[in-house]
Amino acid sequence: MTERRIGIIVNGASGRMGYRQHLVRSLLAIRDQGGVELADGTRLVPDLLLVGRNEEKLRTIAERHGLTEWTTDLDAALAAPGYEIYFDALVTNLRVANIRKAIAAGKAIYTEKPTAETLEDALALAREARDAGTVSGVVRDKLYLPGLLKLRRLVDSGFFGRVLSVRGEFGYWVFEGDGQSAQRPSWNYRSEDGGGIVADMFPHWNYVIENLFGRIQDVYAQTATHIPERWDEQHRRYTATADDAAYGVLRLEGGAIVQMNSSWDTRVHRDELVEFHVDGTRGSAVVGLWGARIQPREATPRPVWNPDVPDPHDYRADWQEVPDNAGPDGFDNAFKAQWEDFLAHWAEGRTYPYDLLAGARGVRLAEAALTSAAEGRRITLEPLTEA
Ligand SMILES: NC(=O)c1ccc[n+]([C@@H]2O[C@H](COP(=O)([O-])OP(=O)(O)OC[C@H]3O[C@@H](n4cnc5c(N)ncnc54)[C@H](O)[C@@H]3O)[C@@H](O)[C@H]2O)c1
Repeated sequence: MTERRIGIIVNGASGRMGYRQHLVRSLLAIRDQGGVELADGTRLVPDLLLVGRNEEKLRTIAERHGLTEWTTDLDAALAAPGYEIYFDALVTNLRVANIRKAIAAGKAIYTEKPTAETLEDALALAREARDAGTVSGVVRDKLYLPGLLKLRRLVDSGFFGRVLSVRGEFGYWVFEGDGQSAQRPSWNYRSEDGGGIVADMFPHWNYVIENLFGRIQDVYAQTATHIPERWDEQHRRYTATADDAAYGVLRLEGGAIVQMNSSWDTRVHRDELVEFHVDGTRGSAVVGLWGARIQPREATPRPVWNPDVPDPHDYRADWQEVPDNAGPDGFDNAFKAQWEDFLAHWAEGRTYPYDLLAGARGVRLAEAALTSAAEGRRITLEPLTEA
């Protein structure tokens, strides 16, 4: 079997996402399975060059995983021969400058979302990539999650009939950091450091919605900083300047309405940390990261409103679990599945659909939601198909 090596620069290798999801669960897993199999049978095997700002952390990670190449100098990494792809999992506010350097160095780009903090920057990056003939890809991991793959099946099979509405609930309680340490990095709660739940989550909602239900025509959002004071990694008290909850209403082409709640200040009374409840003329579904339950029209109960007596009906029992049907190995890690997809597109010279322009649409939705919240009005989104 032919083997082809592909050099990948991994910037932000010690971060929460960079290390766990991208390095360990994706790139090292791909290396350990012998690479990605291409259409012609060639196996594409990654060679990794880790980049970060902390030498000690990088050395430890490299040694732990049998890697030999790492540096704290991005310019040196970009100049090193044999690395064709630049991957960025840095904090959001460093992304544009670094990707810009990588485009100039002639690398293909793969990056975490959001691609920038502002639409202007996101579009500028998309334009620069286009003009330089750069292949680019942006993380859209949620679409590769088992629950959303099942939802894709339901949509493609026409299960819903006409989709009327989608109610998305995302969130959990993130500790303030005083008594119990926070389970997210503190920069997430400071807008001056690129934080905020809108910037973090609306790029996800954009690709989930536009890929499954259609183009978003307009957005209305209310944001909040419910917890104004938090404690950071060093147990120092700081002012939370970024939004930590957002309540959005989006109208889609075709008329469906999406309500999307995102919150780091809610206690979970759901089966999963994100759930989408989709109602269509022919059926409904409740989908999480893993699970999916459906209720077709023919099996819909006929509730009658009567507040005078306790309702004995077990509504949850009316729903049917959608089976995995994922083969003997089950579902793969979502980040890894997308890496494989991106690498195969790149190696085979195919256009990758979720590129920096698609990433810019995600940034635009976030920006529009923030504008909507600040100005108290609905924001229209025209089609954005060109940088
Ligand atoms: N796809 C997803 O589901 C998902 C989930 C969470 C975060 N993210 C995105 O991933 C990115 C990283 O988030 P995270 O939660 O891993 O954050 P993190 O704080 O854990 O990691 C950030 C990385 O940036 C590096 N960094 C920070 N400041 C730096 C500086 N001044 N100079 C050089 N490097 C610096 C850190 O060393 C670390 O490697 C963000 O853009 C975030 O939006 C994506």
